[in-house]
Amino acid sequence: MTLSYKNSNQGTPQKDPNAWHRTLLEKADTSVREAIPTVTGTHRLDYHLMPQAYWMNDPNGLVYYRGYYHVFYQHHPYSPDWGPMHWGHARTKDFVDWEHLPIALAPSEDYDADGCFSGSAVVEGDRLHLFYTGHRIIEGQVIQVQCKATSSDGIYFEKDPRNPLISSFPPDGSPDFRDPKVLRHEESWYMVLGSGKEGRGNVLLYKSPDLTQWNYVGVLAESDGTQGTIWECPDLFPLGDQHILLVSPMGVEPRRVMYFVGSMDYETGKFSPKSVGTLDYGPDFYAVQTFFGTKRRLMLAWMDAWECNIPSKADHWAGALTLPRELSLDSNGQLKMQPLPELARLRQKPVALGELQDTGLEVNLVVDLTSTTASSLALTFSYTESGEQVQIEYHKATGELYLDTTRVHVGQPGRYRAPLDPQSERLDLRIFLDRSSIELFANHGVATITARIYPKSPQVVPQLLTSDGNVKVIHNECWRLEKQR
Ligand code: FRU
Repeated sequence: MTLSYKNSNQGTPQKDPNAWHRTLLEKADTSVREAIPTVTGTHRLDYHLMPQAYWMNDPNGLVYYRGYYHVFYQHHPYSPDWGPMHWGHARTKDFVDWEHLPIALAPSEDYDADGCFSGSAVVEGDRLHLFYTGHRIIEGQVIQVQCKATSSDGIYFEKDPRNPLISSFPPDGSPDFRDPKVLRHEESWYMVLGSGKEGRGNVLLYKSPDLTQWNYVGVLAESDGTQGTIWECPDLFPLGDQHILLVSPMGVEPRRVMYFVGSMDYETGKFSPKSVGTLDYGPDFYAVQTFFGTKRRLMLAWMDAWECNIPSKADHWAGALTLPRELSLDSNGQLKMQPLPELARLRQKPVALGELQDTGLEVNLVVDLTSTTASSLALTFSYTESGEQVQIEYHKATGELYLDTTRVHVGQPGRYRAPLDPQSERLDLRIFLDRSSIELFANHGVATITARIYPKSPQVVPQLLTSDGNVKVIHNECWRLEKQR
C-alpha cells in the first residue's frame, strides 16, 4: 500500500479539514496493532516506555494534563526504521504503569508532508496544545515550519487551520529550524527553536501573546564554535534561582546533551551562561525534554543513538525512553538527575550480590572512600550463559567512573567515562538494569551514564570486585525489579 501524505482536499472548500488526518491516524494505528504479535525477543524492556511495535525516537510534548502525565514520541508506525514521523502517545499516573493511546499526529498536510517532527505541549485553559515542526523535502531542500494541533480531551488532536504558524526561518537561522519548546513567563508565551548558522548551533527565540501569532525576538544562545553545528531539541526552564538551557548538538563527537546554567533576560531575549556541562556521559541518551510535573522538573530522553544499528530491529521494534528523572541543582550550581522515587514500586524482592538473577535489577551501593584501601573497584554484571559482561569501574585516585560495554552484544560497544570529584569521601552508585538497558546514577545524580546493551541471555549475576586492598561498603542494597501485571 502506498500512502499519500498530502491532504487531498487542499485547495477545495473543506467541510472537515481534519478528516484526512484522521484517516491516516487510523491507518497508522492499524499498522501498529497488526505488528504487535510479531514483536518478539528477550530485549523487550520490562519497566521502560518503548513503542508497542516499530520505531521510536525523541520524547515529545511532555505535559501533565487532567490527572495524567502524557508522553508523546517520534514514531514511525510502518517499520522499525526511522521514516515519516508521527507522534506516538502514552500516558501514566505514576510512571510505572503506562497506557498506550492512539497515535496523535500523522503527516497529512502539504506543510508536514514528510513528517511531524519533535515539539512540545502546553495547557491553556482546559485545552492541550501540541507544537511541532512540519518537515518537507522538496527537490532535495529541507523545509521546516512550526505548527500547532489542539485537543480538548488529551487524545484526539486537530491541526490548526492557520498552520504553519511560523512559515520560514529567520535570518539568524537556517533550513534546520525545528523542535519548538513552548514556555510561559509572566503574561507571555515563548518558543525556543533549534537551528544553526555558519557552523554554529543556536537557539532562536519567539514570543506570542496568544500561542498563535509568533514574533521573532532573536538568538537566545549560540555555540562558541566548538559546541556543534546545529542545536536540536532546545529546552529552557527556571530551576531554583537559575535558568537552564539544554541542547542536543549535531556535528560534535561524541554527541552528548549539553546543559548550560545561567540567567535569562526575557526583556532582551538573551540567555547568559555561567557554566556548561554534559547531561549524561553514555552513548544512548539524546533529545531530552523536560516538563514541570506538578511540583518537580521532570525529564525523559531518547535512550538510543542515531549512530547505532539497533539490534532489536530484527524483532520489529526499535527505541525506548530513559527512566523518568528529576532535575535539581546542587549548592555548587551543578545539575543533578535522579530517578523518580515512584520507581520504588517496581521493587519485588531484595536479592544479594553474587546471586544469579533474572534481568530487572536495581543496585544501590555506598562506599566509604576514606577507609577504602583498594585503588579501584568494579561492579560487574555477568551474563553467565553467554559469557558476556558489563562492567562499572571506579578509580579512586582520579575519581573516574567508567561504564564498559565492550564485552556484551551492543549496538555501539565502548568504555564511557564520567568524571567524579576525587575528593569525595563517599561513592554512591545507583544502577538500573533492564533487559536491554543500563542506567547508572553516581553521587546522587551529579553524573549519569546511560547505554543500551543486548545480552544474548537474560540471566545475570551482579558482583562487586576489587583489584587490591579492601572496599569499605557502607550500604548495599539490591532489588529484583518487575512491573506488576
Ligand atoms: C532529534 C531529531 C529532531 C527532529 C527529530 C526527527 O533526534 O533529529 O531534531 O525533530 O529527531 O525525528
